[in-house]
Amino acid sequence: MSGVVEKKVNLKGKDLLTLADFSKEEILYLLDFALELKQQQKRGEKHLLLEGKTLGMIFAKSSTRTRISFEAGMNQLGGKAMFLNQSDMQMGRGESIADTAKVLARYLDAIMIRTFEHEIVEELAEHADIPIINGLTDDFHPCQALADLLTIYEEKGTFAGKKLVYVGDGNNVAHSLMIAASKVGLDCAIATPKNYEPSAKVIEMVEQFTKESGSQLLLTNDPIEAVKDADVIYTDVWTSMGWESENEQRLKDFAAFQVNQELVKHAKSDYSFLHCLPAHRGEEVTADIIDGPNSVVFDEAENRLHAQKAVLASLL
Ligand code: CP
Ligand code: NVA
Repeated sequence: MSGVVEKKVNLKGKDLLTLADFSKEEILYLLDFALELKQQQKRGEKHLLLEGKTLGMIFAKSSTRTRISFEAGMNQLGGKAMFLNQSDMQMGRGESIADTAKVLARYLDAIMIRTFEHEIVEELAEHADIPIINGLTDDFHPCQALADLLTIYEEKGTFAGKKLVYVGDGNNVAHSLMIAASKVGLDCAIATPKNYEPSAKVIEMVEQFTKESGSQLLLTNDPIEAVKDADVIYTDVWTSMGWESENEQRLKDFAAFQVNQELVKHAKSDYSFLHCLPAHRGEEVTADIIDGPNSVVFDEAENRLHAQKAVLASLL
């Protein structure tokens, strides 16, 4: 991607709550920077851009990739990361978000938070004068979408004229992918069962971004229509964290939305398969697809590390 972004982008001090707050140039800059950091890491070159800096990581939900890639990323950048289980903090006993934000900002250089309501992250950002990074809320997962764009770029070499298809729940991952794609000019189709569509607010926002970037957005309840000529097929779990009580109903409602050999026949033969992970083989995707030759899910998981290092080094 080098050369795409001519002008120097300055993201110092900015929050990453959703990619909606980032311009196309800023997103391309982060991807370009991530590729550079990835190469440096592979060559074994030190890149201690955050020596002496501390990232606090607040978790109210489980995590493997987000927690470990942020912590490893801070180490590789010469800084430190601190895992903070929300239920062990006074926040878990009712201390206000505003007071927590003001106190943590006196100790830390940035906060990454994974929680439920997106409004919690917004409130934290309002009261903390250090960068706040959204590590997943019920509505958005921007760090995942950045890694996904990086993976798509590595696989396809461009965004223009390529089609990303998301099949499944219109959830946090779908929202962030739609925003990311519409910002960088990647065509996007989203196929969900009825009543599981992306939020109206996100659709309205993304329709505006597509006008600016010239990309296409298709929303449908028909997975075959969506997958037609796909360059990338993406899915996520049918039951996200926090929705476990609906699991039984969801298994029925999503049954026709499994990514399997029948469905991928409608995509381009060189389609790439992406999944944010964790995956449920036999539910949203069959094992032969996620473990098959078109799957790049582990490259995608690796790219969480590189994309987030670019975010950290840019914001801090
Ligand atoms: N994709 C992702 O965010 O994974 P974790 O829940 O393991 O962090
Ligand atoms: N949509 C999933 C993503 C997990 C990384 C969830 O919110 O549980």
